[in-house]
Formats: sequence, structure tokens, C-alpha cells
Amino acid sequence: MKNVLIIGSTGQIGSELTMKLRGIYNGNIVAGYIPGAEPKGELKESGPAAIVDITNPQQIAEAVSQYNIDTIYNLAALLSAVAEMKPQLAWKIGVDGLFNVLEVAREKHCAVFTPSSIGSFGDSTPKDKTPQDTIREPRTIYGVTKVSGELLSNYYHIRFGVDTRSVRFPGLISYVTPPGGGTTDYAVDIYYSAVKGEAFECPIAAGTFMDMMYMPDGLRAAIEIMEANPDKLVHRNSFNIASMSFDPEIIYHNIQKYVPGFQMKYKVDPLRQAIADSWPNSLDDTCAREEWGWRPEFDLDAMTQDMLSKLGIRLKA
Ligand code: SER
Repeated sequence: MKNVLIIGSTGQIGSELTMKLRGIYNGNIVAGYIPGAEPKGELKESGPAAIVDITNPQQIAEAVSQYNIDTIYNLAALLSAVAEMKPQLAWKIGVDGLFNVLEVAREKHCAVFTPSSIGSFGDSTPKDKTPQDTIREPRTIYGVTKVSGELLSNYYHIRFGVDTRSVRFPGLISYVTPPGGGTTDYAVDIYYSAVKGEAFECPIAAGTFMDMMYMPDGLRAAIEIMEANPDKLVHRNSFNIASMSFDPEIIYHNIQKYVPGFQMKYKVDPLRQAIADSWPNSLDDTCAREEWGWRPEFDLDAMTQDMLSKLGIRLKA
């Protein structure tokens, strides 16, 4: 049995991960949320929920005690482009918030998962097949909080024995909860335009490659890393994971295979483009494959077929 607290349960990852965890574990799977972002529908009906603002250590501690939590999924974050507009808030949530989570975890013996990102790398990192252990010098506040989070999580593991684990997520693509303020979001928005029969205006330039992943693979990674045998883990915070890398032209032409009339034109957003240019083209995920058996299931074509069909059903409902 596992008792899990998901902080940020109504966000892009949290809304799906919470439901998936409820389908796997019998214990308390608690949807942590902040006022204004309450769980709704199935997420609300299917299990307990608690107000847990990551900037409030007392609220984290109370939820952990009340529900006898042994694992915390810390999913509170601002995505990269919006974080550039609010750097102090990005730090407060990403680093001060993580500190709060780790302190509660240390006192109450919880395991902690905190996502990192392709955004933890910067211009000085090798761009292609970016190695697991390499230079991490991001120039975005998003990346700065991600690298700080990785270091802090490793510190709590080494110094206090807290079971911290993490993956560096690529851009996550899903038909359920839309992301907000990310650099990779165009690869979600493009499917919405295709399904609605609208032309898509792409904010990222042709030739800009980034790692992407279909949400079902991302959710599986978040669960499998926490289930992994700790004796086999050489790394912890944080593992490169990968499944596909493409630029806007490649995803556009892939969608056109199934939606022949679909049109895309470019209107590059300088902020997002600068961020994308500083990120790797593709990550090498050998360590995740070797240390805990990571394997993606979806490639671009399989994702496109599933996205178009599921989003089609959803937008008609
Ligand atoms: N999806 C994130 C973003 O674009 C990157 O991990 O900000």
C-alpha cells in the first residue's frame, strides 16, 4: 500500500498522474491543490483532496500527517516562458517550495519525486544526444530552479537519507490538461488547431529540435522511477529520459498525414525561440534504461494518431 500526496494535482502532469496513481495503489492518494485550482469532476470524486500550497510548510506537514503519506509527488512549478515573466515566484515555488517539501520528507520519512527538465541544460551543453552527466549552465530562471532542485534533492539524499528521485522531462504532450507558459507547448497547441480545423501559427522556428514525450510515457516514467530498486540507482536527481525529438516541420507533416488540409505558418515568439535555442536537440537516456529499465512506448506517429483521435472525442463532448 502507498499513501501519496500530489502537490499541484490539478496541473498539466498532476491531473493525469493523480488518476493513474489512484488506479494502481489502494492507499490514500491525496490531490493537493491551491485555492482557485480546485480538483473537479473525476479527480474530485475519486479520492481525498487537501489544500497544500507548496510555499506553506505547515500545510504540507499537516496533509502528510493526516493521510499518513509515504511518497510526495512535488509537481508545483511555473513553466519556462511564464517563469521568465515572474522570476521571483519561479524561485519561490521551485526552490523555496522544494525546500519545504524536503524538510517535511526528512522529518516524516517520505520519498520525494520532483520533475526536472530539458530546461536544466543551456548553451554550453552538448546539443545532440546530451549525456546524463554534463555541463548544466541554464540561462533561464526555469533552468536555474531545475538545476538547484536537482542539487538540493541529491543533497537531502546524501546528507539525510531522504529517498529523492527525479527525471528530466522533455516537452510533455497530452490531450487532457493543457500546459501553460511553456516553450514546448506549441507541440500540444498544434494538435488542438488540427482537430478544430484551424490553421496553426507556430511560435517556434523551423529547424528547432527539442525532445518531446507523450504523456502516458511521462506518467509511466514518474511511477517507475519511484518503484525502482534503489540498489541499482547510480543516479537519482535527475535522469535523462527520451522518446522522440522533432522540429515544427516534422510534427506538422506528420499531422498532415492524417489531416490532409491542415496548414501551419510561422510567427516566431522571440522569448520562446531564445529558450528553445538554448536547450538540447535530443537527450541520451542510456542511464535511465540501464539503471531502472526505462523504455518509451510512443513514437511521433503513434502519438499523433492517439492525440488526434482522443482530442477529437474530447473536443466534441
Ligand atoms: N515543457 C517545459 C517548458 O516548455 C520544459 O520542460 O517549459
